[in-house]
Amino acid sequence: MEDNGKYKILFVCLGNICRSPAAEGVMKKMSADAGLNLEIASCGLISYHQGETPDDRMLDTAERRGYPLNHRARKILGKDFAYYDMIIGMDRNNIVELKELCPKEHQHKIHIMSEYFQNVKGYTTVPDPYYGDMRDFDNVITLLEDACGGLIEKIRS
Ligand code: 4NP
Repeated sequence: MEDNGKYKILFVCLGNICRSPAAEGVMKKMSADAGLNLEIASCGLISYHQGETPDDRMLDTAERRGYPLNHRARKILGKDFAYYDMIIGMDRNNIVELKELCPKEHQHKIHIMSEYFQNVKGYTTVPDPYYGDMRDFDNVITLLEDACGGLIEKIRS
């Protein structure tokens, strides 16, 4: 991959069909609105959904909240750890797996999305909505909006 000089963020979840593609969509919109020119992508820790569009429930929820998603699922690659500047997992299992896969020199790039919560109360992760209902999907977008606000502040500081 050619380096284009942009600051690069990779969002990671388990399947790459619910939380991380939504994080990608929310961050693309919010960072562009904030005047930042970032490279933003997402991937998963498993290849089960490789090539699929996001889960219909997430597509519908994100679209309704103002974030049309255009993504095909892919599994994380070894070279992602060198290429991206920040690698942000959605829950603690994501972080454990990322730390196992990541070469020592890039470990500092790994963060959990909840680090950037600003106003959210009562959550220490972005929980997996896959076995939940539509309220869980809606809540994921609320959590991601809050965290993306904090992440934008962090990048600007
Ligand atoms: P995600 O949700 O990690 O937010 O994309 C999931 C999607 C699929 C599976 C697990 C979590 N799965 O096991 O197939």
